[in-house]
Amino acid sequence: MPRLVVVSNRVAPITEGEAAAGGLAVGVLDALRRQGGIWFGWSGEIATGESEVQPDQTQGAITRATLSLSRRDYDDFYRGFANGTLWPTLHYQLGLSRYDRAEFAGYRRVNELFATSLAARLAPDDLVWAHDYHLLSLAEALRARGIANRIGLFLHTPFPAPQVLMTIPAHRELVRAMTCYDLLGFQTETDRLAFVDYVLREAGGESIDGHCLSVFGRCLRTEVYPIGVQVEEVRAQAVLPANRRHATRLRANLQDGPLILSVDRLDYSKGLRQRFIAFERFLLDYPSHRGRVTFMQIAPPSRGDIQTYREIRRELEGEAGRINGRFAEVDWMPLRYLNKGFPRDVLMPLYAEAQVGLVTPLRDGMNLVAKEYVAAQDPDDPGVLILSQFAGAARELTAALIVNPYDEPAMAAALDEGLRMSLTERRERHAAMLAVMRANSLDRWRDRFVDDLSRA
Ligand code: UDP
Ligand code: G6P
Repeated sequence: MPRLVVVSNRVAPITEGEAAAGGLAVGVLDALRRQGGIWFGWSGEIATGESEVQPDQTQGAITRATLSLSRRDYDDFYRGFANGTLWPTLHYQLGLSRYDRAEFAGYRRVNELFATSLAARLAPDDLVWAHDYHLLSLAEALRARGIANRIGLFLHTPFPAPQVLMTIPAHRELVRAMTCYDLLGFQTETDRLAFVDYVLREAGGESIDGHCLSVFGRCLRTEVYPIGVQVEEVRAQAVLPANRRHATRLRANLQDGPLILSVDRLDYSKGLRQRFIAFERFLLDYPSHRGRVTFMQIAPPSRGDIQTYREIRRELEGEAGRINGRFAEVDWMPLRYLNKGFPRDVLMPLYAEAQVGLVTPLRDGMNLVAKEYVAAQDPDDPGVLILSQFAGAARELTAALIVNPYDEPAMAAALDEGLRMSLTERRERHAAMLAVMRANSLDRWRDRFVDDLSRA
């Protein structure tokens, strides 16, 4: 079996029990734990001088190989083009996107820095599996250094319609760079087709069989690999007595009042403001739930040195205070807003405690929280998932209560419906979702991608 070399911007800690930084880290770490290999990328540290290679760390079959980034690289690449231009555009938030040529140059510079460092480590048979929007130019930079290995990219975010992508002035350079990969993986068919559409209509490419494309003098394959979760492992974590300390305290505190739970990085793409307003609408339109129901929003801060993230954080603090001020009673607080993250073993029991999982991003590549919520439930008495139609997960979890995250009254009605749903209907919906999730497991995501890349 060839060695697997995973590359992502953020390399998470490989020790157990630490809060993971998003879906990418969770998926990659699991894939590497099962297969072993190298995980290469940024350590999350800013160097005092130039960007520099750090000592490798090896644990079991995984080697963590990292770089620190100089302040300039961090500003241009991470805060700038990756998270100031690409992230909002890929999530259709054009009003929050900006473009700066120097930042785009910095994006390419850091992709080249990664390539230089990685090229020196690669053996001819290694499979290189890059992840996410930070590394769209990595394969191009590796090819320029004579690397002929098979190189694939999995995009964890959505890929937008061509007209949206084209608001980025450098769109053509970006797509040209992406075609240097042998395999491009997307979360959903909608994302894949948006890429194909760009290649055929905007870049003059040709489709060989609908999946293989010929463009810019190169051939590449496009495929859909919906990322999944380890269904049995999530449920086992949710019920393990040693993990349930927080969940038990929470339940005692709520007495037998119902819990609505949301868990998101504090990101404007997650639809938190609309969700808070929908909860307020729910308290107004369905007053019988007042005094009993609790909505708990867990929102660990993310990318806190980027202006748009600071603004959403400030706005949500205001909204949470306002809603509680308006509805709270001496013995009841409707909204609990927690600006901190929890390790997964603590989080899974919390999911299991909630009667409703409320997952309403404005756009999301997949959304693993939705899948984890379903996997954590007791099959005999499961909770209800309310899911945005704009999350990639909605393509698979069609048995959820599907909502439009911009339609606050409809979300309020779904909350009422979810809290009143009969046991029979809850069981049916839950079983249907579990069956899909078992079929599209995390193992299958990894195996299909690695097999296709090996054959590319
Ligand atoms: N997560 C976590 N602790 C937290 C919040 C989130 O471990 O306090 C994990 C969560 O369990 C999930 C991931 O972070 O696996 C979030 O992935 P998702 O796809 O939902 O969103 P992303 O953050 O990648 O946009
Ligand atoms: C999402 C992205 C990842 C990213 C993570 C955390 O999951 O898809 O690429 O690593 O968010 O964001 P951060 O900017 O802290 O790495």
